Amino acid sequence: MEDLKFYLITDPHYFEPALGARGAAYDEFMRFEQKCFAETAAINRSVFEYLKKADKADIVLIAGDLSFNGEKESHLGFIKLLRELQAAGKKVYVITADHDFKNEGDDCFAFDESGRLTPESTRREELYDLYYDFGFKDAIAVDRQHLSYVSQLSDGVRLLALNNDGASDGTRRFDEEHIKWIKEQTKKARDDGQIMIAMNHYPLLPGQPIFSVIPSAVQRESDSVTTMLADEGVHLVFTGHMHNHSINEKITEKGNKLYDVCTGSIIADPAMIRFVAVTPDHMAVIKSIETPDFDWDTGGKSCKQYLSDLFDSMILNMLDDMQHNPERVLSRFGAEDKKSIYPFVKLAGKIVNKITVGGVCRLLWIKCDKSVKPILLKDYVAELVRNVFEGNQHFREGNPKGEVFIRFLNRLDPILKKINLKTVDGKQADLFEILKHSAGNYGIDDYNAILDLIG
Ligand SMILES: [Fe+2]
Ligand SMILES: [Fe+2]
Repeated sequence: MEDLKFYLITDPHYFEPALGARGAAYDEFMRFEQKCFAETAAINRSVFEYLKKADKADIVLIAGDLSFNGEKESHLGFIKLLRELQAAGKKVYVITADHDFKNEGDDCFAFDESGRLTPESTRREELYDLYYDFGFKDAIAVDRQHLSYVSQLSDGVRLLALNNDGASDGTRRFDEEHIKWIKEQTKKARDDGQIMIAMNHYPLLPGQPIFSVIPSAVQRESDSVTTMLADEGVHLVFTGHMHNHSINEKITEKGNKLYDVCTGSIIADPAMIRFVAVTPDHMAVIKSIETPDFDWDTGGKSCKQYLSDLFDSMILNMLDDMQHNPERVLSRFGAEDKKSIYPFVKLAGKIVNKITVGGVCRLLWIKCDKSVKPILLKDYVAELVRNVFEGNQHFREGNPKGEVFIRFLNRLDPILKKINLKTVDGKQADLFEILKHSAGNYGIDDYNAILDLIG
């Protein structure tokens, strides 16, 4: 067997520009968006041009959230790009996910000067036919109900392509029938002497520790699913969904490893393309490539800077609204009716927007490096949160901004210890450790790593 090499992207969220992404209602919507909207077609085109010419591999994997929000026209536009990629000689394998369809009664949306529009949406049942040529057609096994399949990627490596929105009870989990099918496929792979890798939109391991307390950030029943996969011989899984960039590892009680390589969306900071090589001796070499600049008036900014600024503006707008429009910010969390807390939110917003990091440190009797003192707290917070999504987080020991954060956590620890919060797998959350390890990376390099899958 030769090395298997492929490129992987995720969460392209293609939006067909003709549907409309402009006007006052659009601008209002974009105040709190981490990902691009109007620009997605241009970013996708530039990434696909890169992939067409990229000559280190002729396989491309795409890990779900193909359309912006399930618009039929967006799927059709995205499929055109997929066909062009195939015509350029690439084999393309996709899975669909939560943003690729709408249930009965839910609308897609677009915007123009007249306000919010409701373009035609896509039903889940339509996705198999729409994406038949990009995985299902050449699969060696298909579970149509669960939109999952197995493909022979190379002589020696199989792809287990999974989807979690077809469970019989309507929740985002692998139901019993699906698990049975997965186990049949992993057994076949073992019997045939094949390495099996997987692709699932939802992260199987929390991308960052803080995501372990957010149910929508991780695959349901992730603990039992990851144990099952690793013990069945699947040691490498590629995921997306949270638009963050990370690599995490778990070792089961039986001593089997599972690596979850979660890749950032191409249309949101930190927009990345993965390049992967799997070797016959069960090693995986993971590299990250920045998405190229795209055809858009970015005011002279690179793609990276443009998306990084968009991320910061989401945080800064939220902090601004805390001070000036608490109703709007609370409505984001479904708490707009809690009018009694408006004054506290306003006050907190006023302080956060005005005070410097040095000012906070003085109030809390925390030592602060002089390089950090003049930074406005709101800018510090925006960078801290962005750094969690970007991976290889630098708010840790040895970095002046990280030193301040850890001292701040130490000061807060008595309060953190009193907060009774459970992780998605039902364990007591240790908030000090969760926050420390989310702000600073102490584990595997999230961008470039060599993973020993079984050793
Ligand atoms: Fe997404
Ligand atoms: Fe998603």
